[in-house]
Order: sequence, then C-alpha cells, then structure tokens
Amino acid sequence: MSTVPSVTLNNGVEMPFLGFGVFQTPPDVTTAAVEEALRVGYRHIDTAAAYFNEREVGEGIRRSGIARDEVFVETKVWISDYGYDATLHAFDKSAGKLGVDRLDLLILHQPLPSRFDLTLDAYRALGKLLADGKVRAIGVSNFMPEHLERLLKETSVVPAVNQIELHPYFQQTALQSVHAEKGIVTQAWSPIGGITSYGGGEKRTFDDSTLLEIARRHGKSAAQVMLRWHLQKGRSAIPKSTRPARIAENFDVFDFDLTSEQIAAIDALDTGVRGGPDPDSITLEAYGREIPEV
Ligand SMILES: NC(=O)c1ccc[n+]([C@@H]2O[C@H](COP(=O)([O-])OP(=O)(O)OC[C@H]3O[C@@H](n4cnc5c(N)ncnc54)[C@H](OP(=O)(O)O)[C@@H]3O)[C@@H](O)[C@H]2O)c1
Repeated sequence: MSTVPSVTLNNGVEMPFLGFGVFQTPPDVTTAAVEEALRVGYRHIDTAAAYFNEREVGEGIRRSGIARDEVFVETKVWISDYGYDATLHAFDKSAGKLGVDRLDLLILHQPLPSRFDLTLDAYRALGKLLADGKVRAIGVSNFMPEHLERLLKETSVVPAVNQIELHPYFQQTALQSVHAEKGIVTQAWSPIGGITSYGGGEKRTFDDSTLLEIARRHGKSAAQVMLRWHLQKGRSAIPKSTRPARIAENFDVFDFDLTSEQIAAIDALDTGVRGGPDPDSITLEAYGREIPEV
C-alpha cells in the first residue's frame, strides 16, 4: 500500500500528491528510473506521448512488481493528435505503449490557441474516454485562465487537474485562484525549478539563498523544501530525476513542516517570469510532431 498522501480529484478519484516526472528522461534509462521511484515509494508517474518513453515507463511499472492498481499513471495527448477521432486514437497509442487497459489521468498537453476548435474536440474525446471507463480522470496542462474559461463554457466536464509551470520563481497565483474556484487541482511541473537550470541557467532555484537557509534549518535540501512548500499549499508536484540518490531525496519530504513564515518567504520569491514557452505561442506549425503508433 502506498504511504503517499493523496488528493481527492473533483470526480472522487484519489491521486497521490507527489508523482515522478520523466520529461527528458532518455528511453534507455527510463525503465530503471521508474523502477527505482516505485521502489522508494512513489505511486504516481507522469509521462507524455511527446516524451517518447511511455513504453519504458510501462516496463518499469511491470518490473517493479507493484500491482497495477496501486500505481497512478498519468500521460498527455500531444497537439498533433488533437481532434475528436485523433484523440480517441491517441489513447490507444499511449495505453498500448504503456501496456495498460486504463489510464488514471489523461490530460491535454497544451492548449492550441490558434486552433481552439481542435483543442475542444480533443477534450470532448477525453470526456468520451472518461464516460467509457477507459480513463479514471481527465485534465489539461498549460491552460491559462482564458483557455480554461472557454473550455468550461463549451464542454461539460471540469478538468480534474491543470498541470502548469510552478516553482518558487514562477508561481501563477491568479491561475491558481481560478483552479481553487473551479475545483481543479494545481499540479506543478518543474516543481523544484528544473527549468531554471537547463542550459546552465543564471538564476537557479537550487542556489537560492532563501531556500538554502530554510533547508539548513530543517536539515533538508533546497529541492526538499520546494516540494514541501507545494505539499503544504495543497498542490500536486511531479519532480524528475534519473539519479537514485535524488529520486529518494525528492520523496523524503514527509517528515518536516515549513512554518508559515518560511512559506511566506518562498511565496515572496516569485519573479513572474516563466521559464517555459508562452502557451499562446504553441502552434501545430512550430511544435507539431508525429506520435508513432504502438
Ligand atoms: N506539462 C508540461 O508542459 C511539462 C513541462 C515540463 C515538465 N513537465 C513534467 O514535470 C516533471 C518535472 O519537471 P522538470 O523535469 O522540468 O523539472 P524538475 O523536476 O523541477 O527538475 C528536474 C531537474 O532537476 C534535477 N534534479 C532533480 N532532483 C534534484 C535534486 N534533489 N537536487 C538537485 N537537482 C535535482 C534533475 O537532474 P537529474 O535527472 O540529473 O537528477 C533535472 O535536471 C517532468 O519530468 C514532466 O513529467 C511537464
């Protein structure tokens, strides 16, 4: 049985708060990383069709020996598979590669602002998969308030989750308020600010003096403090690592509490500057990629 605290999604499904991310995890090390994560206690894996490692994630889950229904499997439909029939087929591709009959959470990876009609049709297909019991919950990723507003107006299922860039340097508080109002769980991607260090970033969360000082007081690392901050704020977080020591470190966050002053100090680190692409810049022309068949 999992010991990870979980959040109840808006349709009653339980999701472990802390998941394990595999973006940029090369296929040849994905199986071992997932197996190690499950060994140390994670029970939630976040992948995506566009990470091209779903097959290896599925292999890691099977090799772990942990029963399928004890692992919460989340994946994402890439924009090239948006449209009603294409998205229904995207489920077959992802489930087939993962080697599962049913997904726990299937989300749209990005809004396509210039083709919102396709985005809506893709989301309606997720609704059909939900009604048919092929997925236990559905959601979105990188949706801004205006995208959510349109989605809610034109479709019938409130997303269970919106997975967004969220770390101490980019907190999207207005968007988080919309989530709270609508009953959508905020799920943080780059939760420990990985994106601030890619390509030798100049201002890395891992070197932040405020985070390091709080970490020192608890005998923890900056990464652990950031994860604790998400958990105490009621957010899901999905840190990624391929290194066993860090995989374990990022899961070792259930034995300390940040004070309200420490939480406020982390809240004050927001720069309002995103590390990832502006969701409004995502187009099929610039970001389309074929997602292979099973
Ligand atoms: N929906 C989206 O558009 C979207 C976008 C980005 C990410 N995501 C999801 O969110 C997950 C997490 O985001 P992310 O991978 O961008 O960033 P992250 O989890 O915040 O950080 C990962 C980076 O930090 C390093 N790291 C991990 N643990 C560490 C620790 N304890 N101390 C120091 N460094 C550490 C990792 O390197 P090593 O592997 O070498 O340890 C990696 O470079 C992804 O894997 C993916 O599942 C979703």
